[in-house]
Amino acid sequence: MNGALVPTGADIDLAPVLDRRVTVLGSTGSVGTATLDVVRFARTHYGPDSFPLEAITAQKNVNLLAAQAREFRPRTAVIGEASLRMALTDALFGTGIEVLAGKDAILEAASHPSDMVMSAIVGTAGLAPTLAALQRGAIVAVANKECIVAAGEVFRRAADNCQGVLIPVDSEHNAAFQLLDFAQAHAIEKLTLTASGGPFRTWSLDRMASATPEQAVSHPNWSMGAKISVDSATLMNKGLELIEAHILFGLPPEKLDVIIHAQSAVHCLVAYADGSVLGHLSAPDMKTPIAYALGWPRRIASPSRRLDFAEFTQLTFEKPDLARFPCLQLARVCLQMGGAAPTILNAANEVAVEQFLGRRIGFLGIARTVERTLSALAREMSGRTPETLEEVLALDGATRARAREASGVAAA
Ligand SMILES: NC(=O)c1ccc[n+]([C@@H]2O[C@H](COP(=O)([O-])OP(=O)(O)OC[C@H]3O[C@@H](n4cnc5c(N)ncnc54)[C@H](OP(=O)(O)O)[C@@H]3O)[C@@H](O)[C@H]2O)c1
Repeated sequence: MNGALVPTGADIDLAPVLDRRVTVLGSTGSVGTATLDVVRFARTHYGPDSFPLEAITAQKNVNLLAAQAREFRPRTAVIGEASLRMALTDALFGTGIEVLAGKDAILEAASHPSDMVMSAIVGTAGLAPTLAALQRGAIVAVANKECIVAAGEVFRRAADNCQGVLIPVDSEHNAAFQLLDFAQAHAIEKLTLTASGGPFRTWSLDRMASATPEQAVSHPNWSMGAKISVDSATLMNKGLELIEAHILFGLPPEKLDVIIHAQSAVHCLVAYADGSVLGHLSAPDMKTPIAYALGWPRRIASPSRRLDFAEFTQLTFEKPDLARFPCLQLARVCLQMGGAAPTILNAANEVAVEQFLGRRIGFLGIARTVERTLSALAREMSGRTPETLEEVLALDGATRARAREASGVAAA
């Protein structure tokens, strides 16, 4: 900056980040489409060659995937559901875009060289591709918190043994990544993740007992996929995020906290030993953390909504009510236990949310299912940390079977 009296550094050249070849895993989801919105904006703002796409992937939304491929021109488009191969091939006829199909093809797309991978598949399905991308040395923008929670130790070992880096995309962790001064880790007193409180923030337990999937997925501030929306309604999302923060940033459980902040303007607070508290604010729009991750370590322009402070009459903060939101407490216990507990928690929760969305259990049955599964398995597994992808997937599978049984009891 010209004319400044303080040290400001040199002008930044954005070319190295705008030239990055990007793979988007889960391009048809909420984070995936927001990522392509940021890419579209960059191509308009900086030039049409910005962020050339290597591959985009979806599970079954073949129409949106084909439309994205036609607009963004990736080298490869991948549909996870193998029976949809012909539909995608027909839709992309004459474009020259390679079509792949099946679960292995998603892993292949993640493994194929590109500079950056957006990990935006939902749930444990994203685990193997995200790990493969990290291991081959990509910059991995990780939105998929389930894979980090389920396989923390596996990611830790992989990160130690490869050139790849993980950049958090979850808004709170992205905010924390921007706020944490890792060079002065000794001075970090507390990292506080904010939670909106979800659609049932003010509901009684009695009222929550009859909450429908439609009510649970209509989040007051964020527009997200169904699974994470239900997790936000139970506050399991914040519990998973505590574990994610512990794994990503190496902070001990006692330095991690959660506070309810209904306006979703402040995403994270970091308190330092000198009494300073640094906060990160932005509008609740995933395009901000996505742009930060795509541009890291530079900052690029994003089409995200902007905060208008004149619109706020107040910013409120309150303690979470663990009696009404037991999932947060279950996650805290798993964070303390470590070992296999987070893997079990995550798999049990994925099953419970699926059962709730399928109307096979009620809203309060989610916590009951997770709790029953944890008490059945966590003691059995105590002291055993899954250390390889195979061990994580085996435990994930065994937990799912138990959770299905437990959800039958929860439904009864
Ligand atoms: N949404 C947010 O604002 C937000 C914020 C922070 C973190 N996250 C995290 O980001 C991840 C994605 O969330 P989302 O809300 O974007 O989810 P979403 O809208 O449900 O999208 C999920 C994406 O994954 C694909 N997919 C689903 N099942 C798959 C499978 N078995 N194998 C391969 N691909 C599969 C979907 O393809 P189809 O469309 O073809 O089904 C879609 O592209 C989650 O881990 C979530 O916790 C999301």
